[in-house]
Amino acid sequence: MTCSILVGGAWGDEGKGKCITYLCDTDKPKIIARAGVGPNAGHSVEFNGEKYGLRLTPSGFVHTGAKLMIGAGVLVNPDVLFKEFEDLKKYNVKERMCVDPRCAIINEDHMSRDKSSKHLAEKIGSTGSGCGPANSDRVMRTIGLAKDAPELEDYIADVSFEVNESIDNGEDVFIEGSQGFALSLYYGSYPFVTSKDTTASTFAADVGVGPTKVDEVIDVFKAYISRVGEGPFPTEMTQEEAESKGLEEYGVVTGRRRRIGYFDMELAKESCRINGATQIALTCVDKLFDCARVQNYDELSAETKAFIEDIQTETGVPVTIISTGPDLKDTIDLRKELL
Ligand code: GTP
Ligand code: IMP
Ligand code: MG
Repeated sequence: MTCSILVGGAWGDEGKGKCITYLCDTDKPKIIARAGVGPNAGHSVEFNGEKYGLRLTPSGFVHTGAKLMIGAGVLVNPDVLFKEFEDLKKYNVKERMCVDPRCAIINEDHMSRDKSSKHLAEKIGSTGSGCGPANSDRVMRTIGLAKDAPELEDYIADVSFEVNESIDNGEDVFIEGSQGFALSLYYGSYPFVTSKDTTASTFAADVGVGPTKVDEVIDVFKAYISRVGEGPFPTEMTQEEAESKGLEEYGVVTGRRRRIGYFDMELAKESCRINGATQIALTCVDKLFDCARVQNYDELSAETKAFIEDIQTETGVPVTIISTGPDLKDTIDLRKELL
């Protein structure tokens, strides 16, 4: 039995989508449960030559033997969820999905408050998905819950009960975090953060799992860093520099151009410490070094290995997953050797 939580190491968009898809396709957990803030997230999943941009559905949906769940701490926008049911029809996502009755529901008013607030839209650079105002209403105890939303009636189930029962039965459970460590309301670059804590402990609470039940925390970093929205970014490079290195990126939810920077070891150390990371997954290594599609650690150059080993030494956490391309096959999986 393994209960794993996957978290973002920096400002989101670390390539969690690819890592989750790889891990769920390989390990085939019984339950894949989404934690994190809500539909402000955008995860890219490439599978069998097709590309999906997901905001609420767990990225592990490609493993069709798993039940898919959305934990009580996650904000749900039913329109976003139903669109993803359509987009992912051939994976039977709708038939496998459970939403906790205690999830709070995002409505039009939350979205318009998010978009029309100068503070959120301009100063913070929010995604406009309504998450900030919805979490604010949750704190004020005025927001509506999934149990009272008739359109969600067919999907309501006690996610915490199901997840704990599965763990007690010795089955594997995979908990997907969203956003990233540096966007945490508590530990991130406040006020330029999201509307909730985004570390592993909160992700466990989001799906109703106690800390004694968690076995692995996988902290995902990109070989460089990207950030959308405003706020400090100590290792940021100029747009020209990012372009010359081929590191230009645009957001999945908002289409905004991402700011790009160098790997930040101090941030990585703090992220591993506060998340209690037991493993690191490092993505887009091929964008920084010449190693596209490499599947064997021994084939990496000495420079690439030194980069990876430095991260391992500085954080004290083994780099178990190395991603060298968008395809699931483009992965070096060192878990057997290192754990
Ligand atoms: P999360 O929000 O953390 O899930 O990341 P993201 O999915 O938002 O990241 P993004 O939208 O930037 O998508 C990353 C893109 O790069 C997707 O098309 C992925 O399939 C792809 N990708 C993921 N890992 C790698 C990798 O190791 N190398 C390369 N070249 N591409 C990757
Ligand atoms: P909000 O979560 O929409 O309120 O946005 C607050 C800040 O978090 C903004 O800088 C957003 O760009 C950022 N943010 C929220 N979710 C994500 C994500 O999934 N990836 C990257 N940035 C995010
Ligand atoms: Mg993303």
